[in-house]
Amino acid sequence: MTARIIDGKLIASELRARVAAEVVRVKRENGLTPGLAVVLVGSDPASQVYVRSKHKQTQEAGMASFEHVLPADVAQDDLLALIAKLNRDPAVHGILVQLPLPKSLHTETIINAIDPAKDVDGLHPSNAGRLAGGFAALSPCTPLGCIILTKSVHASLAGLNAIVIGRSNLVGRPLVQLLLNENATVTIAHSRSRDLPKLCARADLVYAAVGKPEMVRGDWIKPGATVIDVGINRLPALEGKTRLVGDVAFAEALAVAGAITPVPGGVGQMTVACLLVNTLRAACAIHG
Ligand code: GUN
Repeated sequence: MTARIIDGKLIASELRARVAAEVVRVKRENGLTPGLAVVLVGSDPASQVYVRSKHKQTQEAGMASFEHVLPADVAQDDLLALIAKLNRDPAVHGILVQLPLPKSLHTETIINAIDPAKDVDGLHPSNAGRLAGGFAALSPCTPLGCIILTKSVHASLAGLNAIVIGRSNLVGRPLVQLLLNENATVTIAHSRSRDLPKLCARADLVYAAVGKPEMVRGDWIKPGATVIDVGINRLPALEGKTRLVGDVAFAEALAVAGAITPVPGGVGQMTVACLLVNTLRAACAIHG
């Protein structure tokens, strides 16, 4: 059996088109232009790539995009002052502070300073708590993307066995909550979990979000399972070209799974598309 490849690129572009159409409507009917502010501290090359992509896609969706680039040695109070200003700015409906932040800054303090109504990353404790309580919340973008990709395969996740490998605040933990809200049965695995292959073997849905290249092997996968690979790992250059691989050994898993996301072209594309969804939602909620 060869798995169906889940086309994240296509699903993300359809989602962006739906957001753009909705932006046209809220502009026409409510005179509202959703606005997203992205704050980048320092000059980490990977973060610069993400931020550029967010800026471009926000504008393409017809939204206002505000970019703030601060030096790596910015004082925490100056960053907090910028966030306070963005919280008050009526043209800004979504605020995203690109992570990771330089070590000199206290990430939790920075995230807690964002108005929860504008927290399009879904990382503020108020949104994380609401999500955990099963209430409506702005939810982190990558996990939202994972759910949308899963639903392109399964109309309902109710009763399915899911395993989430990884427990980060950005992906693993919120993904667990979203899956619970979809009535899946969820196992949370991490670096201390025993016998991962055995835990995986029971799962109808496998989410790999550990940041370890090709850690999940084909013979861990239950035949026919859906595999969502969140990892994006840059391997050293082979013949001058860097190779991007996920957390799943793709070729092995392809032969066993029912459906699988590729890297690149899977989850990665969904994160920014879901950021646009969250910005639109935040704008409509704030506007009332
Ligand atoms: N860095 C990598 N992914 C993300 C994300 O989804 N949000 C933020 N703020 N930073 C990131």
